[in-house]
Amino acid sequence: MFFEIDKVLISREEIARRVRELAGELAHELAVELRKEGENLSGEGRVVLVPIMTGAMIFTADLIREMPIKLSLGLVAVSSYPGESVSSRGARLKSELPDNLAGKHVVIIDDILDSGQTLDLAYRAIREQGAASVRVCVLLSKQVERVVDFKPDYVGFEIPDEFVVGYGLDYNGYYRNYPEIASLKPTAIADR
Ligand code: IMP
Ligand code: MG
Repeated sequence: MFFEIDKVLISREEIARRVRELAGELAHELAVELRKEGENLSGEGRVVLVPIMTGAMIFTADLIREMPIKLSLGLVAVSSYPGESVSSRGARLKSELPDNLAGKHVVIIDDILDSGQTLDLAYRAIREQGAASVRVCVLLSKQVERVVDFKPDYVGFEIPDEFVVGYGLDYNGYYRNYPEIASLKPTAIADR
């Protein structure tokens, strides 16, 4: 099966618990925001979640099913760790941004914050489109010195500076379907 997995850092149960908490906080804050504008939760869909593909897909799928508010999804693809590398090579948009973000309450979702370049790029691009508000939610935040000083609004877990896979995170395209957050054996990493 997954012979190259070394150790589990965050279990399925811990992830599920934290995802539910994050979803609750986010849904609450967005509801307050909409109410300020005189809309109610079932009102016009002004909330757009923008998951950064492909890493954020599993986190997003679990998160949105715990958010009982009217929302839509607009995917964006950003590339930062090409192929077998385990360190950031700068961020580049690989797809168009959703083009209907003006006036919307946007939540950017990513699997992990590392150098900060990916989220900084997405954040700026979405701000430029005239979103009413932009929030950023990441499942993991690596304790590293960032290339770009980026502060997300919601963080699931702080983790040490280690390359991790699972729950959407990949190495060279694999292990996204591993259900927990885990490290890889050093022998499995070509870069090292
Ligand atoms: P940043 O631009 O350096 O902040 O990198 C963020 C992106 O790099 C994330 O969206 C992930 O796709 C990827 N990434 C960063 N750290 C890891 C890791 O430990 N495992 C897998 N992917 C990672
Ligand atoms: Mg990514």
